[in-house]
Amino acid sequence: MRIYDLIAKKRDGGTHTREELETIVNGFVSGEVADYQMAAWMMAVYLRGMTNEETAELTDVMAHSGVMVDLSPIPGIKVDKHSTGGVGDKTTLVIAPVVAACGVKIAKMSGRGLGHTGGTIDKMESVPGTRTALSQEEFFAQVNKIGLSVIGQSEGIAVADKKMYALRDVTATVSCIPLIASSIMSKKLASGSDAILLDVTTGTGAFMKTVDQSIELAELMVAIGTHHGRRVAAMITDMDTPLGRNIGNSLEVMESMDVLKGKGPADLTEVCLQLAANMLVLAGKGTPAECRAMAQAVIADGSAFAKCKEMFAAQGGDTRVLDDYSLFEQPAASFELLAEQDGYIVANDAEKIGSASVLLGAGRQKKGDPLDFAAGITLHKKRGDYVHKGESLATFYGAADKFEAAAAEYRSGLVYGAEKPEEAPLVYALVT
Ligand code: URA
Repeated sequence: MRIYDLIAKKRDGGTHTREELETIVNGFVSGEVADYQMAAWMMAVYLRGMTNEETAELTDVMAHSGVMVDLSPIPGIKVDKHSTGGVGDKTTLVIAPVVAACGVKIAKMSGRGLGHTGGTIDKMESVPGTRTALSQEEFFAQVNKIGLSVIGQSEGIAVADKKMYALRDVTATVSCIPLIASSIMSKKLASGSDAILLDVTTGTGAFMKTVDQSIELAELMVAIGTHHGRRVAAMITDMDTPLGRNIGNSLEVMESMDVLKGKGPADLTEVCLQLAANMLVLAGKGTPAECRAMAQAVIADGSAFAKCKEMFAAQGGDTRVLDDYSLFEQPAASFELLAEQDGYIVANDAEKIGSASVLLGAGRQKKGDPLDFAAGITLHKKRGDYVHKGESLATFYGAADKFEAAAAEYRSGLVYGAEKPEEAPLVYALVT
């Protein structure tokens, strides 16, 4: 079938065969299918959807468009974790060392910031000297030696996804469940871990805005992973409000280290303990209660923090900053965002806060923009807190000429009210 006919088939609500999906995806990677044809086809998918079987086939075709990493030279079960993206979402920096300190190997590839959401690799690079591009030999050797490495996703993984994502980003086709599921799961299948825990964020700061949509996406991703012989579970976590209090690269490393030292904020600590426990369950380490106790124990005895330092040291990072945060690159200036009235914070829109931190230089406004690792926001008042007029809602860090625009963006997502809002759950569901 010609690509023209395949676009028409999806436009009219048809279901593709595997061969048809190969023609579309492989043709796009090789350049035979033009950007405008792929964009038209993805919009047809956005509007018409895909069956679950079709999405599973699409995922497999996308995974095989690049390198399929074979982690078998690393003995034992390797567990991966993936978040669908969030603001202040620094859980990988906590749970990867926690799980590794419990004896489960982590050979993880992570991403950079995307839109208003942050990325683990950018955060890690705020620790001076840290290398996030290791050769496969170095990566395997590090995991075999210390049980843990987190690196940037290699260029060769799920090549089709990289090209498709770039096109989706500019054609309003990102928030489409079959396209998100195949994008994420193609990378996870290609990365080679035996077990995968998915953190499907939900709310204003996430791609999925409602719990129902998030559960639908989670169920589909779990089904795709299971179909391909992986152990997969998904947690639905709240992203209406940023996780923890810090947003920005080095700020998020500091807060993650606080959790590993047993003095992190309660919401971030709780989500990390639940994520780590579920990863340990997937690795067969015990019941959920036993696994949670293990995660708590390695934080309490300092072994998870030690494992984190070992990872940064192995990747060339200056670990002194993890003990003494004043050694991090310091921001050029700071600014207090003051409350304009008394009242409860009823909404603290995570997407707006993420966008404000991008404006401060913590994220990229366009591809290739340099980052200001010290830029970001510390929240002093979050949803549910009472604030008096003139009190500080948040501290901004970065270049002083960026504060005004960032403040306007932050304020546009802020709602005050006379009544304390109902507490939102941190975790809505576990999908297995
Ligand atoms: N993250 C991804 O990797 N892909 C998507 O489509 C959305 C979020």
